[in-house]
Amino acid sequence: MANKILITGATGAIGKALIKDLQAKGIPFLAGTRNVEESKEKLGLSDELVQFSFDDPATFEAATSGVDKVFLLGPSMVLEMDQLITPFLDFLKSKGILKVVYLSALKSEHMGPDMSFHLKTEARLAKEGFDYTILKATFFAQNFKNYEWDNITQRGITFATAGDGKVSFIDVADIAAVAATVLTMEGHSKKTYELTGPETLSYADAAVILSEVTGKTIVYPQPSPEQYIAVLKEAGAPDFVAVYMNSVYSVIANHHVGFTTNDVEQVTGRKPNTLKSVISHDFA
Ligand SMILES: NC(=O)c1ccc[n+]([C@@H]2O[C@H](COP(=O)([O-])OP(=O)(O)OC[C@H]3O[C@@H](n4cnc5c(N)ncnc54)[C@H](OP(=O)(O)O)[C@@H]3O)[C@@H](O)[C@H]2O)c1
Repeated sequence: MANKILITGATGAIGKALIKDLQAKGIPFLAGTRNVEESKEKLGLSDELVQFSFDDPATFEAATSGVDKVFLLGPSMVLEMDQLITPFLDFLKSKGILKVVYLSALKSEHMGPDMSFHLKTEARLAKEGFDYTILKATFFAQNFKNYEWDNITQRGITFATAGDGKVSFIDVADIAAVAATVLTMEGHSKKTYELTGPETLSYADAAVILSEVTGKTIVYPQPSPEQYIAVLKEAGAPDFVAVYMNSVYSVIANHHVGFTTNDVEQVTGRKPNTLKSVISHDFA
């Protein structure tokens, strides 16, 4: 009987939290990764791990063996992410696996024309008749750990082109808890949830929290997009990275995400975690 959930992006920030939730609920799943051997230790899994790459259709059949639902997460820093994912969606449709929970981004429609991959994937899920749920998540609280760790610990800064805009950073564990619920409970078909943390904060506010938790002075230099491009170029990052990140941060700078929603609590029954609690945990 097909009753497993395939988790794509299983080794990523949300994927790891979703695995824990499904394990706690006793729900069978497969964890997709491009490198099964490497992921064994990282995830502490063995039998559930399955070779999966959006780039390699040869992996699709085994990765969906016994699967009737998919948690769909595309990788960051891929501008044509919708094109990367499309062959897999076509495969799912041909196999009759229509229940898909897709991780999108809050207010991505304001990130600029080159960043339309989430909207295109959402539109495709609707057009192709999937039994979808869309999770539009705002900025992850874990970005400070996963992407800004060296800046914070070595340079005493948090570096983003977010201007003086505010954002309600969300704990990836809260996103995973919503995903686990909508994947396992009825009543979430064809719904879109806007997932935020409990409070709106500027990057200057986040720097104060980072300072309190680390005991070091962390500042937010509020770079312009041009300064950001120059600094990343100097550091040797490929040009598109700064352009991509400036587009992402522009939704904060342009005040599109300075709000909170009740969607996490509505779906999971509990309030989302604060940035301070996540950072305190991450820096412990
Ligand atoms: N960061 C934010 O604040 C934020 C906010 C809203 C939405 N998002 C969205 O969240 C997504 C990224 O989530 P995340 O930060 O959890 O990801 P992540 O930690 O960067 O992990 C990405 C995952 O994708 C997998 N992956 C990479 N290339 C792949 C491929 N070709 N085929 C199959 N799997 C592949 C990797 O697994 P393996 O290496 O094991 O294969 C990894 O588990 C993006 O779609 C982004 O737009 C991010």
